[in-house]
Amino acid sequence: MLFKGSHILSIDQFSLRDLQTLFTVSQRMEPYAARQRMTRVLEGAILGNLFFEPSTRSRISFGAAFNRLGGSVRDTTGFQFSSMAKGESLYDTSRVVSGYVDVIVMRHPTIGSVREFAAATRIPVINGGDGAGEHPTQALLDLYTIRKELKRDLNGLRELKIALVGDLKFGRTVHSLIKLLSLLDTVHFTLVAPLELQLPADLVEAAEERGHTVRVTTDLREGISDVEVIYTTRLQQERFTSETEAEKFRGSYSITSAVYNDFCKTGTVLMHPWPRDSRAGAMELHDDLNSNPQLAIFRQADNGIPVRMALFALVLGVEDKVEATARDVSWYVPDSIGVS
Ligand code: NCD
Repeated sequence: MLFKGSHILSIDQFSLRDLQTLFTVSQRMEPYAARQRMTRVLEGAILGNLFFEPSTRSRISFGAAFNRLGGSVRDTTGFQFSSMAKGESLYDTSRVVSGYVDVIVMRHPTIGSVREFAAATRIPVINGGDGAGEHPTQALLDLYTIRKELKRDLNGLRELKIALVGDLKFGRTVHSLIKLLSLLDTVHFTLVAPLELQLPADLVEAAEERGHTVRVTTDLREGISDVEVIYTTRLQQERFTSETEAEKFRGSYSITSAVYNDFCKTGTVLMHPWPRDSRAGAMELHDDLNSNPQLAIFRQADNGIPVRMALFALVLGVEDKVEATARDVSWYVPDSIGVS
């Protein structure tokens, strides 16, 4: 793919070669993400960060990634604060916002909405999540994380064994991730979910057609017992028709420290696209795992910065100019960000 000037709407756009390009640039962004170096390569550029659904990580990390490249950010959060609440169409909003900014990230509750939005503009548009559709940049940072955690390059990930757990029907990050992992050689997927929340059949068929193995189970313990990576997801209750319908699945698959120690192989990496639901009765990744070194979720969230920086740099065509304005940072930065 020619990154420069492209919309990033779906993992379907990516080839293995594109991933190699993206991850090479992401690696070069690490010192900037770690606040050792700073660059002004996007000084003067503006990101329109349009979020019409709740978000913490995606919205802040897209914004922070753009800021770390020297650009400025304009945020919108929630329908009620935008003119869409007054009946404005996606087309009109897209065309108008394009007059104000250089690149747009958009999250919206309807499948296909970001593509529709992008069709009205030549400014690059990045899909930050379209309903139960896709969340391509999350999958990109997830694969970047898998590589780093397992200390293997993309070729070294052949025969990867991964369990995808939870709400696989509505979880858009899983939809993007299975497509992305399907670019590798022979991945062994185990899909752990209640039958009603299993992965859409077209995604399973597409993975199988590419030669991957897909095992479906409703049994958490069996599903996570022989894998290298467990990718858990939250019950996407906002996509159910009623709260009571969602309620019957809450907490079906909670991984606690005891479950991990009893059933997982040594070294199994624990991932989650966030937010993990830490309310009693949910706890898909229990808080008692917080001191487990294989809990990669905070490192995974941190990886959103270099990967999104790389994507912005590529889409705006400055990936080779980042160093030209770079210098060391002079403010206080702790050795490690978290307390543990
Ligand atoms: C996810 C999302 O919004 O799709 N979060 C994220 O952006 N990383 C997952 C979720 O909401 O459960």
